[in-house]
Amino acid sequence: MSEATRTRRLVSPSPEETHRLGVKLGQLLAPGDFVGLVGDLGAGKTHLVRGVAEGAGVASSEVASPTFAIVYPYDGRIPLYHADLYRLADQEELYATGFMDLLDEGRAMLVEWLDRIPQAAPRDFLRVTLRHEGEDARSLEVEAFGARPAALLDAWLG
Ligand SMILES: Nc1ncnc2c1ncn2[C@@H]1O[C@H](COP(=O)(O)OP(=O)(O)OP(=O)(O)O)[C@@H](O)[C@H]1O
Ligand SMILES: [Mg+2]
Repeated sequence: MSEATRTRRLVSPSPEETHRLGVKLGQLLAPGDFVGLVGDLGAGKTHLVRGVAEGAGVASSEVASPTFAIVYPYDGRIPLYHADLYRLADQEELYATGFMDLLDEGRAMLVEWLDRIPQAAPRDFLRVTLRHEGEDARSLEVEAFGARPAALLDAWLG
């Protein structure tokens, strides 16, 4: 993996703050943006995605925790895919799901457990790594790879 173009770190002291951060990112997302989410069980990946979906204009009733399917399509202000790679063994299996073809559809993509199969990411993407910092606090490390992701990161977190 090459070096990140830009990196920002911050601490979210509560689930509400993580949600708010997600909403703001969702308002900024454009078709073709790819956001990979990394972090342990319960780190807050899905929580952040719910905020992003809300910010992107997706009805909250649509937002699932992708436990049974690998990918969920959402329709908001822009179309989104929400994927979870947790149950996939490797890149071969990812290819077999047709996931890679989805990247060409021009939707924005939110992908939990990207670290399971880092090859799922396109060349340019944003990676958000969440870590537990006590019961209600989470640190977010946001790395932008490429010019558009760096601009997105600047617009998101200033
Ligand atoms: N600062 C915080 N930000 C986000 N979530 C928090 C925070 N503090 C506590 N939480 C709680 O942590 C949990 C995060 O769950 P979530 O399903 O988002 O995790 P996940 O990373 O998607 O896990 P999994 O890998 O199991 O899907 C929620 O219950 C949420 O309320
Ligand atoms: Mg999750």
